Amino acid sequence: MSSLQNLPGFRDFYPDTCAARERVFQAWREASLACGFAQVDGPPLEPLELYQKKAGDELLGQVYQFVDKGERSVALRPEFTATLARMAGARQRDYKKPLKWFCIPQVFRYERTQKGRLREHFQWNCDILGEAGLGAEADLLAVLVLGLEKLGLTADDVVLRLSDRQFWTAFLEGKGMPAEKHYEVFQIIDKLDREPCEKAQEKLGTLAGEIFDIIEGRTDVLATPAGDRLRELKGALEAMGLGAYLKIDLSIVRGLAYYTGIVFEVHDRAGVYRAVAGGGRYDHLVEKVSGVSLPAVGFGMGDVVLGEMLNDKGLNKPETSRLDVYLALPKEEARPALLELAGQLRRGGLRVDYPLAAAKLGKQFEAAEDRGAAYAVVVEGPLAPGAKVQVKHLASRQQKEAVLAAAESGWTFEPKLSSLFVSP
Ligand code: HAM
Repeated sequence: MSSLQNLPGFRDFYPDTCAARERVFQAWREASLACGFAQVDGPPLEPLELYQKKAGDELLGQVYQFVDKGERSVALRPEFTATLARMAGARQRDYKKPLKWFCIPQVFRYERTQKGRLREHFQWNCDILGEAGLGAEADLLAVLVLGLEKLGLTADDVVLRLSDRQFWTAFLEGKGMPAEKHYEVFQIIDKLDREPCEKAQEKLGTLAGEIFDIIEGRTDVLATPAGDRLRELKGALEAMGLGAYLKIDLSIVRGLAYYTGIVFEVHDRAGVYRAVAGGGRYDHLVEKVSGVSLPAVGFGMGDVVLGEMLNDKGLNKPETSRLDVYLALPKEEARPALLELAGQLRRGGLRVDYPLAAAKLGKQFEAAEDRGAAYAVVVEGPLAPGAKVQVKHLASRQQKEAVLAAAESGWTFEPKLSSLFVSP
């Protein structure tokens, strides 16, 4: 491997991809805050034990683990939910319930890298802890949809596939299957879209026919008593105006072991990509991790599949960091004046840059345009509040006079540069 190559499944973020990533994070943050979620974070490295027997064998098999210099078995977090369960259990008394927490951690999974699957990704998590009723599910799905809408996606682009593990639990109990066998069935259902149908049929045995009738919609699940909860949640989501996003789809059971109730995934309508997001209710995980009983529901949305979708739909329009003002320097003698002006304008709230070393004036103006600066100011000598300065609007090539003024924490222009020039 050449020293210029990164590890398979790991990404470098250059300014354009970093700006795209920031736009996604911004949308996630805005949606979370709009719905009353508070941001949290935790350590990227955790005791391996935190994931053992809680997340399920599939996730555990993907954990990056090693023994640290203090002989502890540790793991790079493959998800945030176990950390969240530990954090909530440890400090739940300090906060009023329900806890509504969000975070955007980078998580690591040693998976086969393929389209939509890398070995690290950023994952928006929203979780509501301390509320056992379906109102939590409805609020959680509302924030999820808002996050997608803030990025320009609509019900024409994505579908929210809604299911309920309790429905399946009731079904399997009705068939006399002991509880410890249920997760095996969930895993068979979870892999249906990745494994040949005959193999699943063979594994499901005599139950295969009825299970396929439910999954393929030949049984009207909402008309059965076990479908009550899905019906109620569907009603709440419709009342929130989210009906167009919904599809009741009992083939969703989710691979992770800790889910106990409603589960869901978000997919693109065309079914081209892997899941954009997934989550559900996990009422026993906090207790298993911390000994404190706290019902919970949450989801994770990764940036990889989402980024592919936004790119393909032409919705990836990151704003590259623009400069407000580029300070040009015709003579090196004026550099101290330029440095003072740059510092004062930056403190005053403008995005300002300047040549770091002597350069021809023409080259400096080229640099200003390259950097996307809106305005240029040629600095020829010391300036102070009250001084008149010539400001060039680079897009229209117009030049106008503005006055430097002292702002609260630095200097600014009077009038504001954006009102001095009419955009062409
Ligand atoms: P998950 O379904 O394993 O759930 O992951 C959630 C989302 O993360 C997926 O839908 C996908 O977009 C993204 N993702 C997962 N693995 C990868 C990968 N290898 N490469 C790129 N993206 C990936 C969880 O992790 C749960 N802890 C979510 C949750 C939060 N449940 C309750 N609260």
